[in-house]
Amino acid sequence: MTVLVTGGAGYIGSHTCLELLKEGHKVVVADNLCNASAKSLERVSRLAGGEEIPFVNCDLRDEEQLEALFQRWSIDCVIHFAGLKAVGESVAKPLAYYDNNLNSTITLCRVMERHGVKKIVFSSSATVYSGDNQMPLSEQSKTGSCTNPYGWTKFMCEQILRDLAKADPDWTVVLLRYFNPVGAHESGLIGEDPKGVPNNLMPFISQTAIGRRSCLSVFGNDYDTHDGTGVRDYIHVVDLARGHVAALDFLMKEKGEGVFNLGTGVGYSVLDMVHAFERANGVPVPYQIVDRRPGDLATVYSTPEKSRRELGWEATHSLEDMCRDSWNWQSKNPQGYESEE
Ligand code: NAD
Ligand code: UD1
Repeated sequence: MTVLVTGGAGYIGSHTCLELLKEGHKVVVADNLCNASAKSLERVSRLAGGEEIPFVNCDLRDEEQLEALFQRWSIDCVIHFAGLKAVGESVAKPLAYYDNNLNSTITLCRVMERHGVKKIVFSSSATVYSGDNQMPLSEQSKTGSCTNPYGWTKFMCEQILRDLAKADPDWTVVLLRYFNPVGAHESGLIGEDPKGVPNNLMPFISQTAIGRRSCLSVFGNDYDTHDGTGVRDYIHVVDLARGHVAALDFLMKEKGEGVFNLGTGVGYSVLDMVHAFERANGVPVPYQIVDRRPGDLATVYSTPEKSRRELGWEATHSLEDMCRDSWNWQSKNPQGYESEE
């Protein structure tokens, strides 16, 4: 099968391209590199035994370029990762977020429809769940009441895709709600390469361990959790990538919509993560406790039961794997893809 991977040069996209190639699929990548390096694709190609990865450097809102892409390659289905994802930035620049994330999705679907390609997997997020749900979160848990524009773009894109599937029974849409992706491919050749100061915990831990940051700020230790720090459902990015391969099988067999959590079902606190990282890698992670981050919840974790049942997928990597692989990537590439090889 030939899969168009939008945002395929990014963190999750690059790992997914590799898993798709390993399963014998062909991939075409469209990415405007606004938050990625084309080096990731060179490395994926290397890991896949030199397999060629056609790459189109384009903005998904550019309908002419997308049209040309669909004319050039015979695409069977699309995995749509492309989007902006920084929560804080979305609060500061809401129009940029709504424009990029919604218009990319709408333009993409319009071109897909014109070419009779009506199968799409969409990168959604645990952020679409309302803050007042009981844990664990299942696909039936309440959504909406998002706390920032980024979250609303995910919520709205889900709605757009659902409406499409309702209007035309030839569409199949799979909405994958990721929990907290961390780690890197075991080779250390591809991984997460955030620009500027990382917003998320794991890249901050590994940049602190390597000395790029002096100290991790732990956002609050007075939550109602086992050690007072926030609890999340961390998932190894390779497990997440494999979840997309499993979703493709569903996409080809089923019609309508499928919504699935991609998490492990287990929650770890910030201090659990710090200590697991130190243990797995034998490096210290200096930290200090600071105020809570506004908008954070105490505890967020999934039940991945539906994905196990209906996609035949489950996460297999341990917390130790996540910590070891994050460090392997970070220590081999201290400045991310800009590091010397
Ligand atoms: P990423 O920033 O590494 O990848 C996104 C890619 O999309 C980048 O390569 C970027 O250059 C590209 N892109 C953005 N806007 C584009 C546009 N208009 N046209 C073409 N390319 C464009 O992020 P990621 O962590 O790999 O996330 C992938 C997807 O998963 C995103 O949609 C994100 O919102 C979603 N997601 C991520 C997380 C996470 O924690 N990483 C959690 C939940 C959901
Ligand atoms: C973030 C996003 C969310 C996205 C999710 C998955 C925010 C507000 N939310 O949530 O939209 O779906 O990632 O990628 O950014 N922490 C620290 N110090 C740090 C960084 C984080 O203590 O420097 C703590 C946080 O308070 C939290 C935990 O670590 O308890 C995880 O934080 P983070 O990696 O940002 O993920 P989420 O908060 O789950």
